[in-house]
Amino acid sequence: MTNLVNESIESVTGAPKAMLSTPGLGTNSRDAKIRIQDLTKTFDSRGKTIQAIDTLNLDIAAGSFFVIVGPSGCGKTTLLRMLAGLEKPSSGRIEIDQDQTDRPTNSMIFQGDSIFPWMTVWRNAAYGLQMRGVPKEQIRDTVGYYLDKTGLTPFANSYPHQLSGGMRQRVSIARAFSNDPEILLMDEPFSALDEQNKTLLQGELLKIWDETKKTVVFITHSVDEAVTLGDRVMIMSSRPGQVKDLIDIPFERPRDVLHLRKEPEYGEIVYRIWGSLRAEVDAAARLQSGNGRGKK
Ligand SMILES: Nc1ncnc2c1ncn2[C@@H]1O[C@H](COP(=O)(O)OP(=O)(O)OP(=O)(O)O)[C@@H](O)[C@H]1O
Ligand SMILES: [Mg+2]
Repeated sequence: MTNLVNESIESVTGAPKAMLSTPGLGTNSRDAKIRIQDLTKTFDSRGKTIQAIDTLNLDIAAGSFFVIVGPSGCGKTTLLRMLAGLEKPSSGRIEIDQDQTDRPTNSMIFQGDSIFPWMTVWRNAAYGLQMRGVPKEQIRDTVGYYLDKTGLTPFANSYPHQLSGGMRQRVSIARAFSNDPEILLMDEPFSALDEQNKTLLQGELLKIWDETKKTVVFITHSVDEAVTLGDRVMIMSSRPGQVKDLIDIPFERPRDVLHLRKEPEYGEIVYRIWGSLRAEVDAAARLQSGNGRGKK
């Protein structure tokens, strides 16, 4: 059964589950929730062809927290939008192993506001469930639970403009988890927040995720954030985006966002990721200044 708009994306309910050749540490399962094969994406814009993604192959383990880092313009958002079915691959396949057919395949949280400004916090969080016709009592319990988890219960009747940026992102998180999707897609959700709010929200997200163990695909520009949150970090090459490196993050769960940074291994992993990323950031900067390495 497929409930995604994209004909190149297939849900593979009932198909034998694919085994990861190199399973990520800290993941619950060796099964792939998302399997990407030879994925390519080209945009035609004003007579110019831009190749955003080139022959990308990747398995994302079920129940894992998968983080993507890469230089600006390397195709991270394009990849996420294809996973969400909002963009069609030019070639290649994305398979999402769907457990249940009565749940949405994905929920997406963006960098800016992903919530409706004309709805209260409660109605924003309940929106997906109401659209699916979930019984009222169940909506009340689920939304109540996630508003509580995100500290939003006192603001249930407030409107987004009455909230701080951090609280608005909490609404996005409460809504995404209430919706109970198979996968959660997050595109730099905390990048607009100050350092203190970012750290708080990272901790809250990890707590909720620990309870649900949903498959998360999370884009960030922050290497610290990647190491703090992820089971596995993918470093993308500069455009056209490819998998440059996959680095497993060995820290146990549940994680304490602050204590983690004291671990000697933490600095080593951050250093390793930066080592891999730096060349790509340089290449992307050259590409932007028109002095690229021959890529389109
Ligand atoms: N709809 C579109 N039409 C034309 N080009 C596009 C479109 N969407 C993305 N691109 C181009 O594809 C490339 C990848 O864009 P994308 O937004 O995926 O990068 P990104 O890695 O998310 O960057 P950032 O880190 O800045 O958010 C860029 O060169 C971008 O200009
Ligand atoms: Mg982006």
